Amino acid sequence: MQEKLCDTLKREGQGHVLRFMDGLDDAGKAALEAQIASLDFAAIDRMKALLASGRTSSVDLNGLEPAPVAEPDESARAKAAKRGEEELRAGCVAVALVAGGQGSRLGFDGPKGSYPIGPISSKPLFHFHARKILAMSRRYGADIPFYIMTSETNDAATRAHFEENGFFGLKPENVRFFKQGMWPALDPDGRIILDAPGHIFMSPDGHGGILSAMKSQGVIDDMAARGISTVFYFQVDNPMVEVASPEFIGLHLLAGAEMSIKVCAKRDPQEGLGMVVSRRGRCEMVEYSDFPDDLKNRRRENGDLYYKFGSVAIHIFSFDFLRREAEAAMPIHVAHKKIPFVDEAGAVVKPDKPNGYKFEKFIFDVIPEAKNVLNVAFDRAEEFSPVKNAEGNDSPATCRRDLVAKWRRWFNECGVNVPDGAVIEIDPAFANSPKELMARLIGGFVPVFDGRVFE
Ligand code: UTP
Repeated sequence: MQEKLCDTLKREGQGHVLRFMDGLDDAGKAALEAQIASLDFAAIDRMKALLASGRTSSVDLNGLEPAPVAEPDESARAKAAKRGEEELRAGCVAVALVAGGQGSRLGFDGPKGSYPIGPISSKPLFHFHARKILAMSRRYGADIPFYIMTSETNDAATRAHFEENGFFGLKPENVRFFKQGMWPALDPDGRIILDAPGHIFMSPDGHGGILSAMKSQGVIDDMAARGISTVFYFQVDNPMVEVASPEFIGLHLLAGAEMSIKVCAKRDPQEGLGMVVSRRGRCEMVEYSDFPDDLKNRRRENGDLYYKFGSVAIHIFSFDFLRREAEAAMPIHVAHKKIPFVDEAGAVVKPDKPNGYKFEKFIFDVIPEAKNVLNVAFDRAEEFSPVKNAEGNDSPATCRRDLVAKWRRWFNECGVNVPDGAVIEIDPAFANSPKELMARLIGGFVPVFDGRVFE
């Protein structure tokens, strides 16, 4: 072990990390050394300060009001779509996908993006995301680079999945993977937790880790070199998203916003969406778990929820804003969790109640830094059905149901009657909107609803 690393650990009060060192073989020592070298002690100091402050939430609930939400009419949306199309045609749009999470609620073995969601084909979530980018890139005759954030846990498997699937038709040079950072967990005394004698427990640093990862891994430079000015951001678990929608891009650009947020009316007060709020005229978002029940349940006279709109993590960032924020330190959030640890004798213990703290950064913490923020309402039936849980709400079953219902509406809009109970699936590269489906029908496509995929 390098002396310098040992000294740093001791100086930081983390010397216990080395206590099983003598029992490790050379490979074990090298692996532990690499973990120690990756530790960000400045961030760990901030984590310790957060624990010492006794606050489990860094959120101040004073002076909050619901944020203003734009609900543009048809003509404003059509005008915006034209502006967004110009941006796409000019090749100035990139797509950023956060796919570094652990998907623990779903309990699927593999990157969440490889989860089979196609109602007929069982094609993975990544297929739907990538094929939409392919469709948009073809429609506007321009490259749309696709940046995928992975984490240490799923990076190799994600890359392999894209290779095995021929990058879903995208040009490999336009798909770029980058790894987010990993953070240790701390015990109540601020000591790093080991989950095996020679191993530090580490977990991804949250979706907000995208900013520092974009900087440290050359994504910011790559976007600058490609002349990107607008970045569409979304999450891996929602195959309903209208990726790089010209309308949303146009609304963002015409509003002169540095960040835009799609919001929808919450299904019920307890739905786990980020709350879009404002304080002294500036927008912010508060994680639903930090929002007290009395505020969640508050209603207006007409029965609407007072805090009616939630964010579904579909955003647009101006590139300059991302570049600026990638230089800044983001707030840190803490969660009390069950974390496997080694006891004094070196035996691994799986606790049955929370014993330590995990830390994360959230992307929405940049909102107050944006010069201008646009919140836009959208119809959740069209664009939001995430795969979060194995069963029940927001599960694969509800997501497939909602995908089929959406494609059914597209056929109905085109004047085609779909038999009751028919399962439908459309490859986004075949038709990515009712308009494109109509063009296929006019071109001679005759749909047969016998369980085949339209592709
Ligand atoms: P979630 O908050 O749903 O977390 O992430 P998760 O890890 O996917 O699932 P659970 O909570 O363990 O069940 C929302 C989005 O943010 C990404 C996820 O991949 C998903 O697209 N994410 C989350 C990251 O990229 N990195 C993280 O550290 C956390």
